[in-house]
Parts: sequence; structure tokens; C-alpha cells
Amino acid sequence: MNDRIVFGLIGAGGISRSQHLPNLSRASHIALKTVCDLNADLVQDAQKRYDIPHGTQQHKTLLADPEIQAVLIATRAESHVPLAIEALRAGKHVYVEKPLAETADECRRLTAAQKESGKQLAVAFNRRMAPAYQEARRIIDGHGGARNIHYRISDAYYIWGKAFGASPGTRIVHEVCHVFDLLRYLVGSEVKSIFCAASRDDDDSLLLQFANGAVATIMSSGYVTYDMPKETLEVVVDLGALRVEDCVELRTFGLDDCLQVYRFAGHPHPDRDITHVELFAKCGAEAMRQLRRVYYEKTQRLETLRSSGEHPQERKRLQEELDHHAPHINYMMDKGWLHAVDHFAQCLLDGRPCRLATAQDGLRAAQITQAALTSRREGRVVMLEP
Ligand SMILES: NC(=O)c1ccc[n+]([C@@H]2O[C@H](COP(=O)([O-])OP(=O)(O)OC[C@H]3O[C@@H](n4cnc5c(N)ncnc54)[C@H](O)[C@@H]3O)[C@@H](O)[C@H]2O)c1
Repeated sequence: MNDRIVFGLIGAGGISRSQHLPNLSRASHIALKTVCDLNADLVQDAQKRYDIPHGTQQHKTLLADPEIQAVLIATRAESHVPLAIEALRAGKHVYVEKPLAETADECRRLTAAQKESGKQLAVAFNRRMAPAYQEARRIIDGHGGARNIHYRISDAYYIWGKAFGASPGTRIVHEVCHVFDLLRYLVGSEVKSIFCAASRDDDDSLLLQFANGAVATIMSSGYVTYDMPKETLEVVVDLGALRVEDCVELRTFGLDDCLQVYRFAGHPHPDRDITHVELFAKCGAEAMRQLRRVYYEKTQRLETLRSSGEHPQERKRLQEELDHHAPHINYMMDKGWLHAVDHFAQCLLDGRPCRLATAQDGLRAAQITQAALTSRREGRVVMLEP
């Protein structure tokens, strides 16, 4: 099968069920041979749903298979580096979820192991490959570069509290790391200093200065409800600006050689309703806002039904709809998940230059994260090494 890279997947939890399993199964340049998880039920379910030939609870079994050329690691952060090093030493290319690791020192262990192995490694900072951000980068580059940026990234508090344990800075480590990488990618320069202030845990404001003189602010809040778009990017270029809302719409302001509005199709999940895919392509941000509002109202209704114990049939129906049929609120826009893994495989196949984040980029994101946490704790600007 030399038109496809044979992949193994380690970790079949949340992100794999919503993204990697469906994406690896439909990517043009990938053949998914084996799925591995400590949880046997997740392995069986994935094999059945996506027709995957092999399943195992032992990652060593997967790594020992000489036919597997690349491994996607979608476990939680603490096991990314040890598993990635093992995979590289077993002769596999590696695509690993973000954050690469929680500390820069750990990332350095991996960058060293990767050099030694001669294998390719990409970090899943997938926003680089979102069609909306690819277009934004093209426009930014054609108009003198990014000079002043604002990025808001927000969601409902309980997601991070429940999944990763609420601690000061949790969102910065696990979520804002995406933005650090994306801004470096869009600006094309290194972050040289950072200041971070918080009004409470997981409610932060960050100010970044880049070596090339660009500046950026990031608003990160875990206290926003589902009806607000999750993220918005605003960029001032040499003269004029652009705004990207939730990866479905890009608007330009004063850039007369560009369209005023670009819209981007949504991301489909094979088991769920896909009406949003075309709605986003046709109506962009307005469709996103309306869908978000409907989803929000349904979750509020479900909460009321749960606490009152009334109308059990309606509650069951609503729960079923939100869990299994409605497009997933955080995965219905195209943030580049599928393009990123498929691009990785394509680069392995034909040697084209890879646009994904490298281990070095993963390390840089970890350094910026650490500097942000230090700034937040000590109330001062932290300088980063060039
Ligand atoms: N790129 C994105 O948009 C995005 C979105 C969400 C999560 N993530 C990242 O994906 C990673 C996973 O998050 P999640 O929410 O899916 O976590 P999760 O806990 O739902 O899933 C992790 C899975 O890994 C399995 N696992 C752990 N160690 C293993 C091992 N040694 N061998 C086999 N399986 C093992 C666990 O049993 C679990 O099922 C995190 O790093 C997270 O930050 C990325």
C-alpha cells in the first residue's frame, strides 16, 4: 500500500472519538491498521465503528508491528513524551497531541530523541491547517505582516475543570498553547516577552511582544457559555485589518484587493447531523451564532429537566440528541484536524515540506506557557530567550 502511510493510534478517548478515529479512517493518504487503548471497550468500539483490522491494550504490541510506519499519540499530556520517544526508537514517525509536554525540559528530551531517530514528528497544533487560518496567513503575508493581534479563546468552565482538574493556569497549559503556536505561525517571528494577569482561575489576559515588533493580546476565559463563538482572531496588518470568527468566516477591512467576506464549510462527523457543513459555507458566522444559540438553549433545558426530574421522556430524547446526533459544539467548525494528519502522511509519502508544528515548535509553545505562568504568579513581564 505505497500510496498510503500505515498508521497506529494510541489513545482512543475523547479527541480520538470526535476527531482522530473518523479522520484517520477517511484520510486520503492514511491506512489505519491498529487502535490501542488501555480501555478494552474503547478499542472494541473503535474497531467496530471504523472497521479497524487490529486492536490492542498494549502500545508495545502496536510499536512492534513492522508494517506500521507512523503513530498518532492521543493520550494525555503526561504520557506524550515517553510514548513518543518509544515510538521514535521503534522506527515510527510520530504525530502527537498538544501540549507536547507540560514542561520545556520534557520537550527537550523529545527533541533530542527525534534528532537521533531521523524520523519525522509533528505536534497537533492543528489550527495552522484550518482553511480560515490558511487564508488569513495568505492575506497577512500579502499586506505587510501582522502588526497588532487580538485573540479571544473561551468556553464553558466545566469542560476544563472536569477533564483536566481546575488549577490556576489549566487553560493556558492545555488550550492557550494552541494560540501561542498559531500566533507564532501567523506572525512569523518569536515571542520575546509575555505578561499575564488573571481576574480569577482560568480567566486570563495576556500581552505578547514579538521579536519583529508585532504585539498581541489574548483573552482566555473559561466562563463563557456555549452560545458565544469559541474563538475570534483580529489582525491589524500594515494598513487595514481582518477578523476570523470561529474558523467559519473571515472578514477583511480596507484590504481592497481581497474579498470582504470569506466563508468556510464546517467539519462533518460521520455519525452526526451534517447540515452545518453547508450552512457555514453559505452563511458563515451568522449560522454559527444561531446553531450555538439553539445548542445553548437545549443544554439549558436539559439542565432544568435534570434538576426538576420532570418530563423524563423529553429529557431522554434531548440527551440522546445532544450526545449522539447534533454536531459537536466544539468540533463542527473546520479547525484543520483532518488536513493536518493527512498533510503529515502526504509529506511522509512524497517528501514535500511539512507545514505542521515540529518538536521544536512544541518546545517553544511549552516555553511560552511556562513564561506566562511565571508572569501570572509573579505579576511581572517575563522575557523569553531568543
Ligand atoms: N487538538 C485538539 O483540538 C484537541 C482537542 C481535545 C484534546 N486534545 C488533546 O488530546 C489529548 C487527549 O485528550 P482526551 O480528551 O482525548 O483525553 P482522554 O482521557 O479522553 O483520552 C485519552 C485516552 O488515552 C488512553 N491511554 C492513556 N495511556 C495509554 C497508553 N499507555 N496506551 C494506550 N492508551 C492509553 C486512555 O485510556 C484514554 O482513553 C490531550 O493531550 C488533549 O490536550 C487536543
